[in-house]
Amino acid sequence: MGETRQFFAHRGVSGEYPENTMAAFRAAAKVKAHGVELDVQLTKDGEVVVIHDETIDRTTNGIGYVKDFVWNQLKRFDAGSWFHPKFSRESIPLLEEVLQWVTTLNYPLLVNVELKNDIIDYPELEEKVLHLIDMFHLQSQCILSSFNKASLKKINELNDSIETAYLIEGIPVDILKVVENIPVKAIHCEASFAQSIIGKKVQERGYPIRVFTINTMSEYNKLIKSNVSAIITDYPEIFLENKIIE
Ligand code: G3P
Ligand code: CA
Repeated sequence: MGETRQFFAHRGVSGEYPENTMAAFRAAAKVKAHGVELDVQLTKDGEVVVIHDETIDRTTNGIGYVKDFVWNQLKRFDAGSWFHPKFSRESIPLLEEVLQWVTTLNYPLLVNVELKNDIIDYPELEEKVLHLIDMFHLQSQCILSSFNKASLKKINELNDSIETAYLIEGIPVDILKVVENIPVKAIHCEASFAQSIIGKKVQERGYPIRVFTINTMSEYNKLIKSNVSAIITDYPEIFLENKIIE
């Protein structure tokens, strides 16, 4: 295993905990994952919340769009029981809450914030995320990723020192031109891209690539030759020495 390869817990340790909850993030720090990946959306009153879907239907006991709830309503939903009844006390976290917690850790946990603005255009999501990162002085520990090129371009215009990553699916042939134009500093992709000729080429041009979502050693072993910078996984403990101790 490459010494410098990093392991990010995808939506926290989402294989064993309800995704995008504090329980899932705490589990990532417990196994000393290098980083956590999480997804953000915006509430009706402009709070940045950590949830993957545009609606709360799949991962809470409520129904409706995140953008239609104010934070005071949203925070009351149970975001854990859908996964297992023992997590019934979990709620949707604010990004602020997660970043505050990161500052209390005894090692510099990386935070990959995925802006989920490829379906809904959330006004000023970029400014709000950057403001929170500034507030906690976590610029060097955060990576902002998105499938939305315009959003990444905006982030780069607002703050070109923060690391940005373009999220892709499949193997886009014009990827080099796209990442140079946005511009971004890294690419988050599937294994097929990492193993492709174009994937090798972008790495040679200096773009780190992080691969999602790799959940088994056999998937991982196929990637070793591709020399990827990081793996984004639902089960970081498979790849790390420390095991979760309940
Ligand atoms: O960041 C990689 C991965 O999280 C993108 O897909 O659907 O899990 O957010 P998704
Ligand atoms: Ca994500």
